[in-house]
Amino acid sequence: MLDHYDRYARALPWRSAAPDPYHVWLSEVMLQQTTVATVRPRFRRFIERWPTVDALAAAPDEEVLSEWAGLGYYARARNLVACARAVVAMGGFPRTEAGLRKLPGLGAYTAAAIVAIAFGERAVVIDTNVARIVARFHGVGKTLDESRDEIRKFADAMTPADRPGDFAQAMMDLGASICRPRNPDCPACPLATGCLAWASGHPEAYPAPKAKRGRPHRHGTAWWIERDGAIWLVRRAAKGMLGGMAALPGPEWGGQPPAQPLASVSHGFTHFTLDLHLMTRPEPVGDGWWQPIDQIDRAGLPTLYRKAVEAVLARKEALAA
Ligand code: ADE
Repeated sequence: MLDHYDRYARALPWRSAAPDPYHVWLSEVMLQQTTVATVRPRFRRFIERWPTVDALAAAPDEEVLSEWAGLGYYARARNLVACARAVVAMGGFPRTEAGLRKLPGLGAYTAAAIVAIAFGERAVVIDTNVARIVARFHGVGKTLDESRDEIRKFADAMTPADRPGDFAQAMMDLGASICRPRNPDCPACPLATGCLAWASGHPEAYPAPKAKRGRPHRHGTAWWIERDGAIWLVRRAAKGMLGGMAALPGPEWGGQPPAQPLASVSHGFTHFTLDLHLMTRPEPVGDGWWQPIDQIDRAGLPTLYRKAVEAVLARKEALAA
């Protein structure tokens, strides 16, 4: 794995011979639910804006949330600032998994990744890519949920004491480029000779796919309040879905869809799909601000509301034509 990594490692902006713990932490948080392709430019922009953990700790929450717009899972951004402040108060990042786990929102995966990648200490780093490789290599045919302990034991046994960070990142690269969920490129894999899934002739069958339950649908309403080329935006309550993010105003989601909306959009969250219906209102609602429509990109709207704004503008254009 390490020889393969030396030859084929992806050049990524957070990788370096002497990694900065701040960069490693930030990249791992961004990469938790977001692809490398999306994270790459966003990571660069973020560290340009806040080059150090001290700079980030001093940033207003709202600016960090706006910078996070479009990346999803906004609790990550809220925890990020809290975490940065805790790190500064402690005088630097803790160097152990136990120490890191005490920071707000910092879980087992991230703690292990930071310890291995930033500090070069041995830690067992398991994300879904790593788990899939381990399951295939050892021929574990159950779902990942059912084989958690087994996977951890195997992953632990595979992890070297030397260059644990490179090993972890080699596994991540392998999972992204060769040991893909579908259509793995086994002939190119440095682990192929020992791999039980490859030997079985059906590598894709490992691990067993997790049972798919359809996501429930919910309806929501948002108000489109427009005046002189600007729309009325509000900041959502700090707690709950899209907490603290800029938004179109509206009642809590749930219940029946309204009749004859101006436009509707659908957006997938982790646990449900939301159909958001846009309704026109004449007067501002709640605390908020007028955002010029031609500067909507600067509002820090999360994807749901960006889609909603685009749908309304498209609808209005169609009506005007
Ligand atoms: N996914 C999560 N962490 C990663 C890393 N350090 N490199 C590549 N992909 C990743």
